[in-house]
Amino acid sequence: MPPPVAHLPALLSGPNRAANSLLGPFDELLEDFLSKGGPLPREYGVLNRAIRHLGDAVRAGLIPAALLLEHIRALTERRLAGTMQAQALAKKYGYSGDFEMIDHIYVQKVNPDPGLRCWDLFFHAQAAPNAVRNRKRYFKNLVAEKLAGMPAGRRLDVLNVASGPARDLREVFQDNEAADIHVDCVDMEGHAISYARQLCAPWLDRIEFHQRNVLRHMPARGYDLAWSAGLFDYLGDRSFVHLLRAMLAVTRPGGEVVVGNFSDFNPSRDYMEMMGDWRLRHRSQETLTSLACQAGISPNRLRIFWEPEGVNYFLHARA
Ligand SMILES: C[S@@+](CC[C@H](N)C(=O)[O-])C[C@H]1O[C@@H](n2cnc3c(N)ncnc32)[C@H](O)[C@@H]1O
Repeated sequence: MPPPVAHLPALLSGPNRAANSLLGPFDELLEDFLSKGGPLPREYGVLNRAIRHLGDAVRAGLIPAALLLEHIRALTERRLAGTMQAQALAKKYGYSGDFEMIDHIYVQKVNPDPGLRCWDLFFHAQAAPNAVRNRKRYFKNLVAEKLAGMPAGRRLDVLNVASGPARDLREVFQDNEAADIHVDCVDMEGHAISYARQLCAPWLDRIEFHQRNVLRHMPARGYDLAWSAGLFDYLGDRSFVHLLRAMLAVTRPGGEVVVGNFSDFNPSRDYMEMMGDWRLRHRSQETLTSLACQAGISPNRLRIFWEPEGVNYFLHARA
């Protein structure tokens, strides 16, 4: 029998007494779910509300963020090792949303252990992982549209910035076996590139991988579509503007730059931050528009769309 959720000793006394009085009920709720093998779909609302209350308490300064994180880490190591939540906290490649994590979201990896399975199903039912899966569909639809609009005999040149596992690309090629497409993929993580090369092995004649930091180096072929998802939401505003400019500079006249960024509407933000220490720069449409203007894009060349969850925005800029 695993030990019950223990409060951190530091939380038990002194200025953290208030934090402890808020964490106590949360721990009891978690312990209840842990003892039953994780939350069931009908209980997701209860757990999500409790996590949001934790987020409110952190924002109100009632629970120190660092203490909460230490607490959640200890609990996860003890009781939830091998789950998606544990993987987010482990930051194997330096941050929560690495290529492996993203691919596990795409394939909806679930730990088969009956005591852990429900926790992974709870993870995958959150709005944010849904939005990640939706953006793969968004990319595939976008490429299909571009292909349909290409003049006969002209190749579609695509730049994929921060390509990660490239499962989106794999599915593009699976759906368009004979398509005349060339894709330059840039990612600075060697493991991501090896992984992506394996996933895309049958189509390596049409994909070139570049292991580079895109903030320093951008392939300059001239593209019909320059795409990036899962990177801009990690960048500060200056890097955002710099990278958007750089992508525009390598896009052909008439081509399009499309950049994903998590929106300011993300119902699972507290779950990501409190339970996974997964922090992104959530941006509003107004902020995205303002940053695009700073990158020299006039408003009439700019559109913002989103996937069905409304969690991942896509900034479209015509070159
Ligand atoms: C969240 S994943 C997104 C992967 C993919 N675009 C997707 O949506 O499936 C982010 C990827 O960006 C890469 N990355 C982060 N910073 C980068 C940089 N400065 N230059 C190149 N790649 C970077 C990481 O190695 C990781 O593979």
